[in-house]
Amino acid sequence: MMMLYSTSFMSWLVVMIVVIAVINVEAQSQGNTSNQTISTNSTIDGYEGRFTCVNSSLTFDIDDVCDGQYQCPYSDDEYICDNEYCSSAEYMCDYEDSYECIPLDYVCDGYADCEQNGIDEILCDPLDCVPSCRCSAYSVSCEGRNIVDDTNITKSSRDLYFIGQSINGTKMPLSMPFNVTTYPLLLRLNIYNTGLRELLRADFLTLTEIRMMILQYNNISRIEDLSFSNLNKLTMLDLSYNSITRIEDFSFRDLNKLTSLYLSRNVIESLSSDTFSGLTSLTEIDLRFNRIAVLPARVFKAFHLEDLLIDHAGIIELEPGCFQGLEALQNLVLYRNSITSLPSGAFRGLESIIYLHLFDNKISNIDVDVFKGLNTLEFLDLTNNSIIELRKGLFEDQSNLTWVSFSDNPLEYIEPGTFQNLSRLEYLNMVNVQLTNLEPDTFKGITSLKGLSTDDYRLCCLFDETDLCTIASSNFLDSCSRLMPNTILRVALWVIGFGALIGNTIVLVFRCRTDHSVSAKTQGLFISNLAIADFLMGIYMLIISSADVYYGEYFYLYAEQWRGSVTCKVAGFIAFLSSETSVFILAIITIDRVLCVVFPFGKLKFRATSARVGVALIWAIAFVVSIVPLVVSSYISGFYGQSDVCVGLPLNVESTETGELVFNIERRVWEYLQYETTKRPSWVYSIAIFLGVNFLIFILILLSYVVIFVHVRKSARSVANPASGSGSSDRAREVKLATRMSIIVLTDFFCWMPVIIMGILSQTGAVTLPVSLYAWSVVFILPINATINPYLYTFIAICGSSKTRSTSNPTQKTHLTTAVSETRA
Ligand SMILES: *[C@@H]1O[C@H](CO)[C@@H](O)[C@H](O)[C@H]1NC(C)=O
Ligand SMILES: *[C@@H]1O[C@H](CO)[C@@H](O)[C@H](O)[C@H]1NC(C)=O
Ligand SMILES: *[C@@H]1O[C@H](CO)[C@@H](O)[C@H](O)[C@H]1NC(C)=O
Ligand SMILES: *[C@@H]1O[C@H](CO)[C@@H](O)[C@H](O)[C@H]1NC(C)=O
Ligand SMILES: *[C@@H]1O[C@H](CO)[C@@H](O)[C@H](O)[C@H]1NC(C)=O
Ligand SMILES: *[C@@H]1O[C@H](CO)[C@@H](O)[C@H](O)[C@H]1NC(C)=O
Ligand SMILES: *[C@@H]1O[C@H](CO)[C@@H](O)[C@H](O)[C@H]1NC(C)=O
Ligand SMILES: *[C@@H]1O[C@H](CO)[C@@H](O)[C@H](O)[C@H]1NC(C)=O
Ligand SMILES: *[C@@H]1O[C@H](CO)[C@@H](O)[C@H](O)[C@H]1NC(C)=O
Ligand SMILES: *[C@@H]1O[C@H](CO)[C@@H](O)[C@H](O)[C@H]1NC(C)=O
Ligand SMILES: *[C@@H]1O[C@H](CO)[C@@H](O)[C@H](O)[C@H]1NC(C)=O
Repeated sequence: MMMLYSTSFMSWLVVMIVVIAVINVEAQSQGNTSNQTISTNSTIDGYEGRFTCVNSSLTFDIDDVCDGQYQCPYSDDEYICDNEYCSSAEYMCDYEDSYECIPLDYVCDGYADCEQNGIDEILCDPLDCVPSCRCSAYSVSCEGRNIVDDTNITKSSRDLYFIGQSINGTKMPLSMPFNVTTYPLLLRLNIYNTGLRELLRADFLTLTEIRMMILQYNNISRIEDLSFSNLNKLTMLDLSYNSITRIEDFSFRDLNKLTSLYLSRNVIESLSSDTFSGLTSLTEIDLRFNRIAVLPARVFKAFHLEDLLIDHAGIIELEPGCFQGLEALQNLVLYRNSITSLPSGAFRGLESIIYLHLFDNKISNIDVDVFKGLNTLEFLDLTNNSIIELRKGLFEDQSNLTWVSFSDNPLEYIEPGTFQNLSRLEYLNMVNVQLTNLEPDTFKGITSLKGLSTDDYRLCCLFDETDLCTIASSNFLDSCSRLMPNTILRVALWVIGFGALIGNTIVLVFRCRTDHSVSAKTQGLFISNLAIADFLMGIYMLIISSADVYYGEYFYLYAEQWRGSVTCKVAGFIAFLSSETSVFILAIITIDRVLCVVFPFGKLKFRATSARVGVALIWAIAFVVSIVPLVVSSYISGFYGQSDVCVGLPLNVESTETGELVFNIERRVWEYLQYETTKRPSWVYSIAIFLGVNFLIFILILLSYVVIFVHVRKSARSVANPASGSGSSDRAREVKLATRMSIIVLTDFFCWMPVIIMGILSQTGAVTLPVSLYAWSVVFILPINATINPYLYTFIAICGSSKTRSTSNPTQKTHLTTAVSETRA
């Protein structure tokens, strides 16, 4: 007896050693033929993010580990997790409703270790293993070949692992690889990676004890009706990674103990409300990665699901009531489908829903009642859809909503009052939306906001605290203020605007009525054209003032609209035309005076015709210069409208930022990570005109007056010396002359130099100027000439010339006095 036992044990040992040797040889040759390394342990390559299965060359994305699906041949991708099943070093005692894990060594050790039924000691015949299969306690695993029916092994087997992938890559076999009737006690079955095409009614008929069936990575496209009948202890069925296109109604009818059903990565095209009928215990279903076009009503009736994953499933339409019956559902994952609309009733019955993932769909129509009754909803992700508008009443019941995203939608309009019941909303994501009609009370009702992610600075303005705002991209013009940011500017703009209008009107009237001598006519022509140009500046200022009043406090909501409006473009055009004409006319006046002084006897001077031609030319040139940005706006886009005051003063550089939005899981908001900022000069045209042409003309005026001054001094001396005695009065005249010239040069200087200097500083990147400078420039710098010119060239001249007439002797009037009075006039 003893002999018998020891010999049978010895022979068993020898067989085992041989088997292990064979396997090792196999593993080596496998390592040679291809470079796959087969590890006897699961390995996780954290660096590559790959998981390698035990005794297999299969690797998976680390995200697929512990996801509740068995991807590895030995299921080690799930056993390594702290989950409901036992590890590979353990034996699972399977009871009706529960299980227990015991170490593998305890199996067949003479003690009943499975407490409820002692199943670990039943049928403890030593196993003779089939060649090239591996056997341990109750488990047989075979690779790349059909299982030779050997009732001596198989009848007691609990676990069968069948891996179809052969060493050279072909899938084996095309039919059920084993005879079902020989495995009456099978608890776990894994048929993995074969070419198996269909499941037939007879295939599982006798597996009445089976609890887990993993049929992944086969080529199953057809499941015959009643294939799963009799399997009324089955708790887990995994049919993922197959080619199933259609599931017959009632196919799963008898699986009333089934808790988990995995159907992901198939090509299921349609479901009906009876597809899953009979599955009364289901707590988990996976339909991800399919081609289900329509989710029919009541398809999941009465499942006690907490999570439902149906992403990447090709869903186009949700029928009203399709989730009816899922009262316990908390997490509904519907992202990356092609859902086009959310009809009324689509989410009816989801009484416990907390998370609703709808991102990356094509939702454009949302029925205003669709979220009605979902008052437990806390998280709603509608990122990357085609939503154009949100209507009042949509979120009426969502008082528990704390996180919502509408990012990446062509969202144009949100009806005020839409968010009025969202008093607990903490995070709002609105990156890349195209809101055009924002109204001051659009976000009324949101009172607990902690984070706002957006690329539209106006939203930040609407929530007073801007530090809760994460802005994805910003423009230096963005500001939350009105057009004229403060009262001083507002008042000054009106006063100066009207001043320019009235002053220049008076000049025009006055010019029409007096002085009809030839030289005065030329002068008059220049002065009245100057007045017209300056009058235009007044109009521009009043347009801006009116816009400021019109838009009022919420200007920032309409700033972009305003900048793009025709009014703004016209205003910009007028301002540009006015200032350039004004500058050119100042230049021609100066030239005229130089000619007067240098050629006192009229050898070379403007006559009526040439003056007219000159003035016409100036208007023409100024007109062309100012119309160019309008005509070729595609090349220098936004020139009139690049700033809130409509004129593109070159006071800022255009900066382009590169960066990306990163989701901060802790704060649950998007954060903007800026990589770099490149700055380049903006508005080359504007720079050329404001910094180039105007600067040159200023130099011209300055030099001209120097020439006049020097010339007048010289001739004054040459006139005064022989006469001698009138020296002190000449001196006084010289001082007067110098003063007036300097006033003219200085006003011009004050008008353009600040712009030129600020322009140079900002364009070279030396300083970054605040945007409010535009408003200040437009109020106090640009119109200086326009308001002061009438006084400088007309009113002072009137007073001055009447004084000159009374004090000086008309007969002694030399070219000197002419020059002086001309200078004044
Ligand atoms: C296979 O690998 C073994 C050991 O790694 C080596 O001895 C043998 O030469 C290899 N065979 C081939 C065909 O490369
Ligand atoms: C296998 O590995 C060797 C050396 O590591 C390499 O030269 C060879 O290209 C690899 N072959 C394949 C098919 O990857
Ligand atoms: C993997 O193979 C080794 C020997 O090749 C064996 O000892 C081990 O039990 C196997 N692991 C599993 C989970 O089958
Ligand atoms: C294999 O895996 C087990 C369990 O994860 C671990 O305890 C053991 O150290 C591993 N062995 C090797 C050689 O990595
Ligand atoms: C099965 O076992 C019986 C008795 O133990 C033996 O006679 C028979 O040959 C075995 N069958 C096979 C296929 O090994
Ligand atoms: C792969 O191996 C199987 C046997 O293992 C053999 O029948 C088949 O012809 C081989 N296929 C190829 C393409 O080498
Ligand atoms: C399966 O095995 C049973 C009994 O061992 C036998 O009667 C039956 O013919 C077998 N079926 C097939 C398809 O081999
Ligand atoms: C799967 O089956 C279909 C036919 O049902 C066949 O065309 C296809 O080649 C098979 N794929 C594999 C990988 O066996
Ligand atoms: C938006 O969703 C579409 C599919 O609907 C996808 O192709 C695209 O990559 C997504 N865009 C982003 C930014 O995620
Ligand atoms: C949702 O809000 C309602 C009040 O509007 C409250 O009664 C209910 O308890 C909240 N539910 C959850 C899950 O917070
Ligand atoms: C939503 O807000 C409006 C106005 O504040 C209120 O009349 C209505 O009762 C609220 N609805 C719910 C469901 O709280």
